[in-house]
Amino acid sequence: MVRRLTVALAAGMITAFAASLAVAQTDVVKERQALLKQFGDVTKPVGGMLRGSVPFDLAQVQAALEIYVKNAKVLPGLFPAGSDSDPDSDALPAIWSNKADFDARFAELGTDAAAARAAITDEASFKANFPGVIRNCGACHDNYRQKN
Ligand code: HEC
Repeated sequence: MVRRLTVALAAGMITAFAASLAVAQTDVVKERQALLKQFGDVTKPVGGMLRGSVPFDLAQVQAALEIYVKNAKVLPGLFPAGSDSDPDSDALPAIWSNKADFDARFAELGTDAAAARAAITDEASFKANFPGVIRNCGACHDNYRQKN
C-alpha cells in the first residue's frame, strides 16, 4: 500500500516535472522570438533609410544598434537543446549541431553593431557602415531559420 502510494506519487511528480519542462520550453521560445521580433521592428525603418524611402534619423539608427548589442548578448542563452520541437518555432535543428557557430554569429552581430555605433555619426557613415551589420541577420537565417 505504502509502496503503491510512493509509486503513484513519483509518477505524479514526473508528470508535473514534464509539464513544467514543456512550459519552460514554450516560454524560452516566446522570449527569444520577442527579442528577435524587436530586431525586426527596429530594423524596418532603418532599412527604409538605407533605401532612401525614410528620412535619415541618427537617433533611430543608434537606438537600433543599441538593441542589436543588448539582445545579441542574451539570445545564445535562449536556445536550449530541444527547443526546436516547439511547433511555433522556426529554429532549425542545425543550431544544436553547430551551437558554437550559432552563438558566435550573435557575438559577431554584437561586435559589429558596437563598432558601427562608434563609426556612424552622419548619413554618409551610416550608409557605409550599417549594411555590414545587418548582413549578419540574413547570413544566420540562411543556415538556421526555417523559411516560411
Ligand atoms: C545567430 C543567428 C541569428 C542572427 C544573427 C539573427 N537571427 Fe533572426 N532569427 C534566428 C532564428 C533561429 C529565428 C527563429 C527563432 C524561433 O522561431 O525560435 C529568428 C527569427 C527572427 C524573426 C522572427 C521573430 C518572431 O516574431 O518569431 C525576426 C523578425 C528576425 N529573426 C530578425 C532578425 C534581424 C533583423 C536580425 C539582425 C539584426 C537577426 N534576426 C539576426 C536567428 C538569427
